[in-house]
Amino acid sequence: MFAHRPRRLRQSVPMRKLVAQNRLAPADLILPVFVKEGATQPIDISSMPGVQQHSMASLKTAARDAAEAGVGGIMLFGVPETLDAQGSAGVDPNGILNLAIAEVVAEVGDDMVVMADTCLDEFTDHGHCGVLDAEGNVDNDATNAIYAQMAVAQAAAGVHVVSPSGMMDGQVAVIREALDAAGHTNTAILAYSAKYASAFYGPFREAVDSALTGDRKTYQMDSANRTEAMFETELDIEEGADMVMVKPAMSYLDILRDVANMSTVPVAAYQISGEYAMIEAAAANGWIEREPAMLESLTAIRRAGAQNILTYYATEAARLLA
Ligand code: PBG
Repeated sequence: MFAHRPRRLRQSVPMRKLVAQNRLAPADLILPVFVKEGATQPIDISSMPGVQQHSMASLKTAARDAAEAGVGGIMLFGVPETLDAQGSAGVDPNGILNLAIAEVVAEVGDDMVVMADTCLDEFTDHGHCGVLDAEGNVDNDATNAIYAQMAVAQAAAGVHVVSPSGMMDGQVAVIREALDAAGHTNTAILAYSAKYASAFYGPFREAVDSALTGDRKTYQMDSANRTEAMFETELDIEEGADMVMVKPAMSYLDILRDVANMSTVPVAAYQISGEYAMIEAAAANGWIEREPAMLESLTAIRRAGAQNILTYYATEAARLLA
């Protein structure tokens, strides 16, 4: 007979639970949400069934629901009515994102961590994450100067964490310096450190009414590259990132493991719009079971090394885990 029978530890629900090496907890989850200027009621996003562009009122309800489910954080994205080449509405204290930050902080700020996307793509009429130079290329340093103002405006609105997602070189350093100079030394930075140019962002473009034509390959990372993710993460930690992120999650679990192994700060991963859409589409067709697929995908991201997971499933998953 064989001495070793690994199946002994798989024979019952309590036994499997006892020896489970990775657990999901509501507090580790972060819910990304979209708020649309001028919306009087939530608007469905067709490529992300169950996810909506919120009105200010429905945003507050979603934030409250998430907090009550024990979700640890909420990440805000703004969808403005007016776009321009500079993305001015992102910096404006009365812009939709900054107004939403103040409202959400007032609603749930004592119960969960309020974060905001610190990036220009939702606000520019060309849809790029930065401003363009005379040749139409994204201008790194001019963009950083605007990110700095944007981060300060978000901090002034009360956000707990700013989240630069534009992949400009030096963005974390510039933002940290600006926050400190404005007295916001306690505002944390969650850096999208290893953010890849991905086809799986597709549904997000609908979620934020993006004007982008073309791609983001001159600033986001190439999916073929691995060690570069560690270089990007190292730079961001040196520049003052309090937390780092790998994005997307499911096609980049190897990168997530690499980053988790080397990072000295907490690591997050973002299960993005296309990942959500794929699970939803397959489940809607009866090709996979929705809830087990949802929890398996989140467990895989945890197992690969994410402490925190940004997921459109956050509130629902938190309720299932409670
Ligand atoms: C940039 C940003 C994007 C996402 C989050 N922040 C879009 C992009 O980089 O193209 C994507 C999130 C998702 O797909 O769920 N502001």
